[in-house]
Amino acid sequence: MLDLKEPKTLPLDAPFRLTQRPRRLRATAALRESVAETHLRPTDFIAPFFVLPGRGPSEAIPALPGVYRHSVEGFLREAERALRLGVRSWLLFGVMPEEAKDPLGQSSADPEGPVPQAVRAARRAFGEEAVIYTDVCLCAHTSHGHCGVLKETPRGLRIDNDRSLRQLAAMALVHAEAGADFVAPSDMMDGRVGYIRRVLDEAGFIEVGVLSYAVKYASAFYGPFREAAKSAPSFGDRASYQMDVRNAREALREAALDEAEGADMLMVKPALAYLDILARLRPSTPLPLVAYNVSGEYAMLKAAAQAGVLDEARAVRETLWAIKRAGADLIVSYHALEALEQGWL
Ligand code: PBG
Repeated sequence: MLDLKEPKTLPLDAPFRLTQRPRRLRATAALRESVAETHLRPTDFIAPFFVLPGRGPSEAIPALPGVYRHSVEGFLREAERALRLGVRSWLLFGVMPEEAKDPLGQSSADPEGPVPQAVRAARRAFGEEAVIYTDVCLCAHTSHGHCGVLKETPRGLRIDNDRSLRQLAAMALVHAEAGADFVAPSDMMDGRVGYIRRVLDEAGFIEVGVLSYAVKYASAFYGPFREAAKSAPSFGDRASYQMDVRNAREALREAALDEAEGADMLMVKPALAYLDILARLRPSTPLPLVAYNVSGEYAMLKAAAQAGVLDEARAVRETLWAIKRAGADLIVSYHALEALEQGWL
């Protein structure tokens, strides 16, 4: 038993009147739930999927425990699981074998590529029950692993911004033709949102939206994804196109440009080290904001949970709440399906 008697030396008779007692609102679980400012629903999540060509078995991704690369058929099974859990927004990434890659990333616009096939199959199987987003970027399709195409300059190899737009728009068009609801350019070339918008409109796809990875930082937290998508650059890095981690004003500029070019939704990526950016962007645009809780952020929690240093359920819930609280309308999350299945939220 605890001895709760106060020692006589304390001045217990001092008058003490508090009018504000915030703890009153924290007294019981029922009360806390009733005044909670942030809630997570299954429809807040976008589930990412990696799709392989061919009909092979699903492949585990060592850097992303619990995440797999699937054939189109395997993806359909996972999509069904997502639907059962109420997660009706899906983001598709294609994974290509080395031999399908070339310097221009032309396999990105192959209508028989894994993503267009998966989109068509999901449309046949699920109609409009789900909102299908497709990642538009060349890095999984170029032999050099950069997100754009290269050009020779007197100062060496550089990314050819405007030439890259053509391949990106061709890729977006193929995804639209397959039946995607939204294309999601993640390459960070200047002007790609406007260019893709124009190409979609001219082909008659006025109803297909653009979710722009508007604010995408050159982050260390994409490592596991690059293993999953086999999309690491073979030389150099992405610093000449992705944003400098130190910049916040630049995020407002990127977001404003993409909004002006016709983006329907804006993304901030990664999420956790960039909650300040989400919070700053929130009042500056009326568009829905998406946060990408990226592969390295997922892998970090998995590793810590596996090492027994934190409680995964609580850490995942806290993380997702924080992203929502900072201003995200939608969260791309590798944890979403597991968290919902396990009752962590
Ligand atoms: C493609 C792309 C990347 C991610 C999403 N789209 C990788 C990169 O920019 O290198 C990262 C997602 C993640 O880490 O979960 N450009």
